Amino acid sequence: MDTLTVSQKMLQAKDFLPINGTDYVEFYVGNAKQAAHYYKTAFGFQSVAYAGPETGVRDRASYVLQQGKIRFVLTTALKSEHPVSEHVKKHGDGVKVLALWVDDAYKAYEETTSRGGKSYLEPVTLTDEHGEVRMSGIYTYGETVHMFIERKNYNGIFMPGYKEWKSDYAPTDTGLLYVDHCVGNVGWNRMNPTIQWYEDVMGFVNILSFDDKQINTEYSALMSKVMSNGNGYVKFPINEPAEGKKKSQIEEYLDFYEGEGVQHVAIATADIVKTVRELKARGVEFLDAPPNAYYEDLPNRVGTIEEDIAPLQELGILVDSDEEGYLLQLFTKPVEDRPTLFFEIIQRKGAKSFGAGNFKALFESIEREQARRGNL
Ligand code: FE2
Repeated sequence: MDTLTVSQKMLQAKDFLPINGTDYVEFYVGNAKQAAHYYKTAFGFQSVAYAGPETGVRDRASYVLQQGKIRFVLTTALKSEHPVSEHVKKHGDGVKVLALWVDDAYKAYEETTSRGGKSYLEPVTLTDEHGEVRMSGIYTYGETVHMFIERKNYNGIFMPGYKEWKSDYAPTDTGLLYVDHCVGNVGWNRMNPTIQWYEDVMGFVNILSFDDKQINTEYSALMSKVMSNGNGYVKFPINEPAEGKKKSQIEEYLDFYEGEGVQHVAIATADIVKTVRELKARGVEFLDAPPNAYYEDLPNRVGTIEEDIAPLQELGILVDSDEEGYLLQLFTKPVEDRPTLFFEIIQRKGAKSFGAGNFKALFESIEREQARRGNL
């Protein structure tokens, strides 16, 4: 019987890196200029930095956007024969890099590669008049990469090679604060090896597990395990499809991403009703609201909450609880034409879990979308 809380389990991690948080999430996309406009207009990100031909980078363009502590980098290649173009051709727009903020990028590389991590970028020091950024990188699942970023001796806008991106177009933010967790989808029988990899190579600990008996609907199922570093600043749930009467949503992702990759990035807000209302007004598409019965049953299932239920129901916001508190969450539809990457908006009120009590309502909503795409 598993009696430790999530907070207690985190203490069991071997934090040899250690990690101070998510430094940035980099997306490889077909058209970074237009993607940047979408994240500014729809999500309220602010223009921060740019690298491209005008800054001496000949083969690609990258736009850095920020909101709260969340930094997104949107990168596109300028020619077809380029690793970024190859990535986009295979996977469509998606997350390439989950960058982690560390104290020592050289040591992080040594520690992880000596434990079996596969090299993506050997340690390198980038310098300009604002100081130095040291970085290195290893592969995780699929073609996805963890970069280790050390910036304690840097006071520039982002990193060497980038210039400040001044824009007259600056829509207001939507209250997004920080990256709460990033979820990876892996193939059949690949969840446990991936979990083992996070334990062995990264020193993470498995804080929660859900099997296909807990995460299923009439039609499809999946399994999930959540990996966390010791201080809980970065959490990576890993999903694997499971057999059901019809195609698992994880299988649909794997088919269309053409491999393993990041399924969703969860972003925290301090006022989910305000944030979601704003995002919807700006055209962000969310999954359908669950049926009325979900909200009628809510007080029985999660106990007393501070929020009024009416606006939650109006916006389709989901609520779940654990022994440490409760959380509110809502999921966007995929943000590309391929049914791959989407976002989660989450507000935590003490809960350290991920909304397992919502999985059934959530997946039934996802399956309605899958059926519309003819992929169920
Ligand atoms: Fe999530």
